[in-house]
Amino acid sequence: ANAPVNVTVTGAAGNIGYALLFRIASGALLGPDQRINLRLLEIPQAVKAAEGTAMELFDSAFPALGTVDIFDDPVQAFEGANIAFLVGSMPRKAGMERADLLSANGGIFGPQGEALNAGAADDVKVLVVGNPANTNALIAASHAPDIPASRFTAMTRLDHNRALAQLAARAGCHVSEIDKVTVWGNHSTTQYPDLTHATVNGAPIPEILADRTWVEEDFIPTVAKRGAAIIAARGASSAASAASAAIDHVRDWCQGTTSSWTSSSIMSDGSYGVAEGIISSFPCTAVDGEWKIVEGLEIDDFSRAKIDASAAELLDERAAVAEMGLI
Ligand code: NAI
Repeated sequence: ANAPVNVTVTGAAGNIGYALLFRIASGALLGPDQRINLRLLEIPQAVKAAEGTAMELFDSAFPALGTVDIFDDPVQAFEGANIAFLVGSMPRKAGMERADLLSANGGIFGPQGEALNAGAADDVKVLVVGNPANTNALIAASHAPDIPASRFTAMTRLDHNRALAQLAARAGCHVSEIDKVTVWGNHSTTQYPDLTHATVNGAPIPEILADRTWVEEDFIPTVAKRGAAIIAARGASSAASAASAAIDHVRDWCQGTTSSWTSSSIMSDGSYGVAEGIISSFPCTAVDGEWKIVEGLEIDDFSRAKIDASAAELLDERAAVAEMGLI
């Protein structure tokens, strides 16, 4: 049998944590035969709740689950981590100033980056889910100089999955029949879900793309604002679908993508005119444990403007955290 894989999950006692941990332990991440040791990080006030979740994990008698350890110290939690899900954060609350939002997250993701740098395994793969996810990932990466920046990613897979679901509903097909959808940019309302290259059962979708009202006034805002719609309906933010997307992201990263590409927020190398040094969503494949940007896609004027606008927002966020000394 393979050696156990150490998976650290921060924000383990939260909503996403509650959905995510059971999927990981059940084998959805690395298969039922790969033993996983969970390392849960929480703030001290939530350690007791994390202990309750650990009791339920224990009671599930998962064949793939090894040990479960709970920490309130990031240095200990990231010791030996092969995979890290950074879920706990300070998301924007109503009326919160951007400076307060960014500085609170700098206080979380800076030390977590340092702790990863100090103790994570050489092959560590990091997915930031906690918002503002792309900039939080940038902060963590900038505090981990010994870990390649390519190992720090942020989650736009939920946006990608939402785009697949919306297109499938419009096209009257199953999500599994859709390919070549991209979410570009920031995990925010400036994100650009792009259907330009999309196929249904291998065929392009010119009639759907010709319906500009649907694409621009229905599809794009529905995907970009889906988080708010879920909150309005459920009275709580999307947790199970976020956890499912986090599993999809890390499973594909470890085991390889199966479609033509997916969407992953990774460190920009300047591809598609997106400035280097921001963590932005691109069309990506995962091969041998590395994300690769799918190059050479044609970008029309509409897409160009949308990609540029979201990249500009990420540059703005980077400038703000740089000015605050957080990166
Ligand atoms: P939640 O509030 O239920 O749970 C967050 C947990 O993180 C809490 O238990 C809290 O104690 C913990 N936490 C806070 N600071 C921490 C720290 N420094 N170290 C360790 N744990 C810490 O929130 P929920 O619903 O689980 O969402 C978590 C994050 O995921 C939020 O920032 C949310 O905005 C984000 N999110 C991102 C999505 C994406 O697509 N990228 C989709 C949905 C949510």
